[in-house]
Amino acid sequence: MTASILAEAIRMLQDGGITNARQEAGWLLNQILNSDANTGAGQPRRPAADLSPEQEKQLRSRLARRLAGEPLQYIMGNTDFHCLQLDVGPGVLIPRPETEQLVEIAIGLFPGHGDICDVCTGSGAIALALAATFPQARVTATDISARALAWARQNASRLQLANVAFYQGDLLAPTPPAARFDLLTANPPYIAPDDYMRLERTVKDHEPPEALIAHDHGLAIIKRLARAARTRLNPGAWLICEIGDTQGPPVAEYLYRQGYQKVEIRRDFAGRDRFAVAQQPA
Ligand SMILES: C[S@@+](CC[C@H](N)C(=O)[O-])C[C@H]1O[C@@H](n2cnc3c(N)ncnc32)[C@H](O)[C@@H]1O
Repeated sequence: MTASILAEAIRMLQDGGITNARQEAGWLLNQILNSDANTGAGQPRRPAADLSPEQEKQLRSRLARRLAGEPLQYIMGNTDFHCLQLDVGPGVLIPRPETEQLVEIAIGLFPGHGDICDVCTGSGAIALALAATFPQARVTATDISARALAWARQNASRLQLANVAFYQGDLLAPTPPAARFDLLTANPPYIAPDDYMRLERTVKDHEPPEALIAHDHGLAIIKRLARAARTRLNPGAWLICEIGDTQGPPVAEYLYRQGYQKVEIRRDFAGRDRFAVAQQPA
């Protein structure tokens, strides 16, 4: 019975134009079969053949949401990011794989102890991956969106990462005024309004626009952050910011003009400019 439902689910997703239909159908079905809510926590899992009518109803409802264009991660309620599994849902950006590379750059530059600030934290992805990697570090994370921060706090609590504090507000403004940081990370909104209009519907219809759009050709928030960070970074501290693939030259120039040193634009695995790295002068 389960095999025929799986085959039907794959066909439905394929007909709906989902490229990863086979994998997605498998993940959706497995999540329902393996959910403690369905089996009762601590109870043995149902054998695969024993998909109950209630479970079949759940699967059909989740397939309908997927076919209506909702991102798979919202339907599943979670996504993998770096070393963690994060809860995600409406109101928060789904962390993207290239942002894991930003975490790797940060790990390579941070001495292992001291103060980290992750601005525009969303689900907490970067902040929590760094907090898990560096238990001795104190991590501060900010976001302007109360909905996004609710997901970030939920993730920190479920992952039992106590070395992270969250603040709601604009960039660095909500952090304690005396706080100075040894590393500042950010994946801010950097998509120009015109480019946003060309994004795929799954993103535009479901993920929060305030997580993606920035004025001034997508550079407005990056520039404000670069200015603000100059007054909040310790000597020798690093700023690492995700950028759009055409923004390398203007961002590098802006960082130099703000007085940063060792400015570098790093590429993602696809060879595109995606990360600006700069050091606060000693
Ligand atoms: C591109 S998302 C990145 C989320 C997360 N860091 C990640 O990589 O998945 C940008 C985030 O910045 C937040 N944001 C937008 N404008 C902001 C501002 N002025 N100050 C702080 N956060 C802001 C949005 O709410 C959103 O959560």
